[in-house]
Amino acid sequence: MNRYTSHVYTKFENLKPQQLIDDAQLVKTDMVNYPKVHIAPKSGLLNDPNGLVYYNELYHIFYQACPNGPFHGMKSWNLVTTKDFLTYEDHGIVLNVTEEYENFGIFSGGAIIVDSKLCLLYTANYRDPNNEYKRKAYQVLATLDENYNVVSKRIIREPDETLHTEHFRDPVAIDDFNVLIGLQDVNNQGQLAVMGYSQKDYLGDSKLSFIKNSWNLDSFMFECPNLFKLEDKNILVFSPQGVEAQDKYTFNNIHDVVYSISDKFFIEEMMWDNPIIKQLDHGFDFYAPQVFNDGERTLMIGWQGVPDTIYPGDEQYRWSQMLTTMRELTLVNGNLLQKPIDEYQQLETNWISFEREVKLESKVFKLKFSASEEFELVIGNDSYNIRLVRQGNEISLDRSKCQYLVNEKYGNVRYVNVEEDNCELEIIVDMSSIEIFINEGKYVMTSRFFIDSLTTLKLSGSDTSQFSYLKAIKYKEG
Ligand code: FRU
Repeated sequence: MNRYTSHVYTKFENLKPQQLIDDAQLVKTDMVNYPKVHIAPKSGLLNDPNGLVYYNELYHIFYQACPNGPFHGMKSWNLVTTKDFLTYEDHGIVLNVTEEYENFGIFSGGAIIVDSKLCLLYTANYRDPNNEYKRKAYQVLATLDENYNVVSKRIIREPDETLHTEHFRDPVAIDDFNVLIGLQDVNNQGQLAVMGYSQKDYLGDSKLSFIKNSWNLDSFMFECPNLFKLEDKNILVFSPQGVEAQDKYTFNNIHDVVYSISDKFFIEEMMWDNPIIKQLDHGFDFYAPQVFNDGERTLMIGWQGVPDTIYPGDEQYRWSQMLTTMRELTLVNGNLLQKPIDEYQQLETNWISFEREVKLESKVFKLKFSASEEFELVIGNDSYNIRLVRQGNEISLDRSKCQYLVNEKYGNVRYVNVEEDNCELEIIVDMSSIEIFINEGKYVMTSRFFIDSLTTLKLSGSDTSQFSYLKAIKYKEG
């Protein structure tokens, strides 16, 4: 038996129901890491957010799921819906492997509405059992009915080995005729391309146009691209793989997420006119975010994790990984700002002002403070802690003193350079998650951290500081 014939790739329909029930029971016993205000799997593994769409007055959040266990294996799409980001309904796995061309999983992609029907665009991950499990990537459009049953699936693009390798995935529609997709070209370099597609006919237009750019990013694959407009500018957000660290500020995780802004980008010319690329997050665990518009706001949610990483407790509690908070994006002076959406304010309980210290009664809270000079925040207990420090223009997040360490070979500290003298911070801690928003979300540090019990929070150097516990989000029964 090899990995491809093992339980890692058992199809969803063949998983033992009792196993899923047992796993979900174990997840419920996790009192140290499982989040209360973030989306996490009922059991098994979660990775990229997929198919984000506001449709029928509901936010639809699909995500890459491997219900087989807390590891990357047979992927399908799990759906969670919400009206208000306070109460959610988990619909379970709604898009899973049914066709031979997707025999090794349903990979990432986006949603579109065609004739008022919810359709999902995704990458079918095929591996040939008769040829050493060699991979091929098909792009597929699935149509769902009003109960989220898949009523049809059809390939909209076949793989083309003259243009890309087996890494050709994560399609998102940018209009009714064009889809943006990430790929590895025949020289093994990451690229973004736009392919024509048809919402109605069998295949789309077979053209594949690469986006010409001058970013100079040495990456072997660009994953999970997004293209959207803010303030009349075009913005690309994507996840390049394998970029080497340039200094202590950039590309220190196994893979990081970047964005680039262009004044002009016309599908006809396929030319990105800005060579500048910026890192979207400066923490340890942030990848493959997806952006969408709900009619009023441009919103983004990411995977609060990174590829090839096992987190403490995964095996014990049979779940792995979570999504970030939903964030609203704005563009201010050439910077993409991220703020947790206002809806989360409903989870706040009682704001108290504090000086220097809070004795913690729960691991789920929010903190706001301002500091015009250096500051130090330490969250933990007598033996372990996570630390956020400003020295000069630099803010560092240090998880070297946590109880359990993660991805140590990539270092235990992350740094971000802050231009402003004054810092306003908003921090959300949710069990094993910390999201740090600095100066209206101009700099964000998203991370997991692992300390069983948090008893105190100590802050020095702040001018004002406020603290509130957060209530848990709820799930509808069903
Ligand atoms: C990014 C990614 C995508 C792929 C999916 C598979 O995390 O590798 O490129 O579609 O995950 O789960």
